[in-house]
Order: sequence, then structure tokens, then C-alpha cells
Amino acid sequence: MFQRMIFSYFSFRSAAAACAISLTLLGSSLSAQDLDNGKKMYQICTACHGAEGHGNQVLNAPQIAGLDAVYLETQLRNWKEGIRGAHPDDTAGLQMRPMSMTLKDEETIKDVAAYVATLEAKIPEATLEGGDATKGQAAYAVCLACHGPDAGGNAALKSPSLRHQNDWYMLAQLKKFKSGIRGSNPKDVGGMQMRPMSMTLVDEQAMKDVIAHIRSLAEK
Ligand code: HEC
Ligand code: HEC
Repeated sequence: MFQRMIFSYFSFRSAAAACAISLTLLGSSLSAQDLDNGKKMYQICTACHGAEGHGNQVLNAPQIAGLDAVYLETQLRNWKEGIRGAHPDDTAGLQMRPMSMTLKDEETIKDVAAYVATLEAKIPEATLEGGDATKGQAAYAVCLACHGPDAGGNAALKSPSLRHQNDWYMLAQLKKFKSGIRGSNPKDVGGMQMRPMSMTLVDEQAMKDVIAHIRSLAEK
């Protein structure tokens, strides 16, 4: 009797262990993206965003290292579907749009996003002048709810990190949101959330001020 109990205990243990192992394998095969494929698909992107994803101002291409995979995927999908970057006045967006077309399906988008998410961000050089970080801090009170106290973003709210974003790129995006070049397509769920927020910044000076504050957070 005792022996049988021991036996069934061990067979239960090994069955449970086998089960756990197969579940782990199943889980990883379902969720893990193919980073090798992502890296391969990223080759074309290096022309503008650079091998490390640090961006290139001359080409209007921002740093994309440091962004999380879900945000990256969403943007790539939005471009492909014409939800972002299809407005005739969106010169930089129109440059990026054909690049998203090189990603043939959902799996490829996820692979490249997963690869980019592994790249290490750097604090970009300041290029704007005249921003007042103290004034910007007051304006940032509105932004804080979504982009976070350290500007690190909030994945649940689909709000990207702004910590490693180029100042010139942020200024361009805030102007685009405000004028409706970005974020006015009804299918652009994230952009539609951000658009009214850009309205709280009355002019270019107010945008520069808030950007100066965001940069001060990143440098902390
Ligand atoms: C011809 C130059 C060029 C190439 C090549 C290119 N991009 Fe871009 N990319 C841009 C520009 C310009 C922007 C900024 C668009 C804007 O201002 O709205 C951009 C923006 C982005 C953004 C948005 C970042 C953000 O913070 O919202 C992502 C993500 C991105 N690119 C990913 C990629 C990927 C992945 C590839 C390769 C499949 C790629 N890009 C290839 C020019 C390029
Ligand atoms: C209600 C939540 C919310 C608030 C508040 C908010 N944002 Fe955003 N913001 C977003 C979302 C969501 C996106 C991504 C939009 C998309 O998917 O295209 C975004 C995008 C941005 C971008 C573009 C980032 C990129 O990589 O392209 C900038 C810059 C930005 N926000 C700055 C601000 C500033 C400055 C404020 C305060 C004045 C602010 N946001 C307030 C939700 C918010």
C-alpha cells in the first residue's frame, strides 16, 4: 500500500513536470518572435534609422531604439494601412510609409518590432534652443497621466516613452497632432487620444518648453 502511494506520487510528479515543460514550450513557440528574421527585415531600415536605431535628423528619421514592441507594431501597422503618414502634407510620414510596405504580414511586423525593441537607446543630442524647462514642467502635468512621471510611457495606455525621443522629432509630431496631419484618422485610436492633448500647447514656444522639461527628465 505504502509502495503504491509512493509510486503514484512520483508518477503524478513526473506527469505534472512533463506537462509543465510542454506548456512552457508551447507558450514560447506561441509568443516568441523570430529575432533573426526581425534583424534581417531591419536591414532596409538601417538606411534611415541607423544600425543601432539611433535615428538620423538629416533624413527626418527619429531614434526608434528604446520604444516598446507593442507601440512599434502599432505604428508599423498604422503606416501600412494608411492610418498614419497618408496625409498629403506629411512629408516625413510619406517617406516612412513605403518602408512599412516591405513588411509583408503581421508576423513580419512583430518580428521586426521585437528586434527593434532589443536595441539600446541613447540620450539624443539637444538640437532645439529657447525651451524653458520650468514652464514646461507645468505644461507636462497634462501629459503625465499617460506618458508617466519619468516620461517612460505607459504600455496599458498605449502611450510611448518620450525619454529617448529626439527633440526635433517631438516638436514635429506635436505640430502634426495639433494641425491634424497625425491622429485625425478615426481608426487611429492612439493618435485620437493624443491629438486633444497637443491642443493644450498654445504655440511653438509652449511645445519647446514642454520638450525641454521632457529632456530634463531623461537626463536624470
Ligand atoms: C527612407 C528612410 C526610412 C526608412 C528606410 C525607414 N524609415 Fe522609419 N521613419 C522614417 C521617417 C522620416 C520617420 C518619421 C515619420 C514622421 O515624422 O511621422 C520614421 C518613423 C518611424 C517610426 C515611428 C517612431 C515613433 O516614435 O513613432 C518607426 C517605428 C519606424 N520609422 C520604423 C521603421 C522600420 C521598422 C523600418 C524598416 C522596415 C523603417 N522605419 C525604415 C524614415 C525611414
Ligand atoms: C490621454 C493620454 C495622453 C496624454 C495625456 C498625452 N499623450 Fe502624448 N501620446 C499618447 C498616445 C496614445 C500616443 C501615441 C499615438 C499614436 O499611436 O500614434 C502619444 C504620442 C505622443 C508623441 C509622439 C511620440 C512618437 O514617438 O511619435 C509625443 C511627442 C507626445 N505624445 C507628447 C505628449 C505631450 C507633450 C503631452 C502633454 C501636453 C502628451 N503627449 C499627453 C497619449 C497621451
